[in-house]
Amino acid sequence: MKAGEAARAVFEAEFGSEPEGCWCAPGRVNLIGEHVDYAGGLCLPIALPQVTTVAMRRRADGRLRIRSSGFDPVDIDLRDRQIDGWAAYVAGVAWALEPPGFAGADIAIASEVPVGAGLSSSAALETAVAVALADLCGLPLDDEGRERLAEACVRAENDYAGAPTGGLDQRIALHGRAGHALLLDFADGTSDHIPFDAGKQGLTVLVVDTGTGHRLADGQYGQRRREVEDATRLLDVGSLREARSAEPIADPLLHRRARHVIGEISRVRQAAESLRAGRIRDLGPLLDASHRSLRDDFEVSCLELDTAVDAAVAAGALGARMVGGGFGGSVIALCEDARVDDVRQAVADAAARRDLPAPAFLRASASGGARRC
Ligand code: GLA
Repeated sequence: MKAGEAARAVFEAEFGSEPEGCWCAPGRVNLIGEHVDYAGGLCLPIALPQVTTVAMRRRADGRLRIRSSGFDPVDIDLRDRQIDGWAAYVAGVAWALEPPGFAGADIAIASEVPVGAGLSSSAALETAVAVALADLCGLPLDDEGRERLAEACVRAENDYAGAPTGGLDQRIALHGRAGHALLLDFADGTSDHIPFDAGKQGLTVLVVDTGTGHRLADGQYGQRRREVEDATRLLDVGSLREARSAEPIADPLLHRRARHVIGEISRVRQAAESLRAGRIRDLGPLLDASHRSLRDDFEVSCLELDTAVDAAVAAGALGARMVGGGFGGSVIALCEDARVDDVRQAVADAAARRDLPAPAFLRASASGGARRC
């Protein structure tokens, strides 16, 4: 069953009526540019074909009733500011967006984006809710309108749900385009769609969900953000985007953190150049270098991610790295189509040998952003 139909079915079963419509938004993988969005950096994500869908009908009594199969029902007052858990990603968007004339809704959710896999299920949910509210309440859905929705979703995540994330996930979920990667510039807010069709070149972007849940609302992600801010102050620059080298920083830990950010931004530039020239294979060594930097300098990897990356590369992947915030979640491996089965087998075997959870696999192809469905 498609996600749109699934959300509609939950809606009809739970509320006994038809929704006004269904809207969906994708998960994402970031090809490269990790932990640099909040440092004024560059990121190069693609939107996934897997989407989260919301079915919605407006109410007039100030209530939000939210249903999702597998989760407890949530009934809240729109003015409530103390919502915990997944429903905060829904209520927070209504709070941040303040759509004109909006006075509550019945909402059903169905998702194909694995939760806690580092594939941005929360941003998929936020942005699906945002386009639904925008569409129903007459807010524009052109590029500019979408940028405003992305900003509201980031506020919802930072100030309402309490996850201090940087904006990469919401922007790709809203602006993603089929067959393209999106070069996002967090220094000036611009973006550029770059053709990216790995399949045409006989390549696969294999996503390995290690089955180890990651959490962004816990301390580690916020800790890294603070370290980046400290390094920025020590280098006396507006953001690490302006820094050329971490050399002046004596503190070894902050030195490593800054070295990651500066190196990663330069890798994104090289990756974007390769894609513009149609040389997707050249991403391979950049992915490997990105992973080493995230593992050793930024210290956001973990045994499950390293095991998957090492096994993928040993089995012939052109390059592999962890994606997303880290501390669990997923890995991407760029593979020649002919090697995909070997890589999957090697990654699964390596996890089994170490008694780690059995990984799940999906193929990433650059897909479209949030939309009515
Ligand atoms: C998470 C955050 C993003 C970004 C990545 C790391 O996905 O939500 O804002 O910081 O981690 O690149």
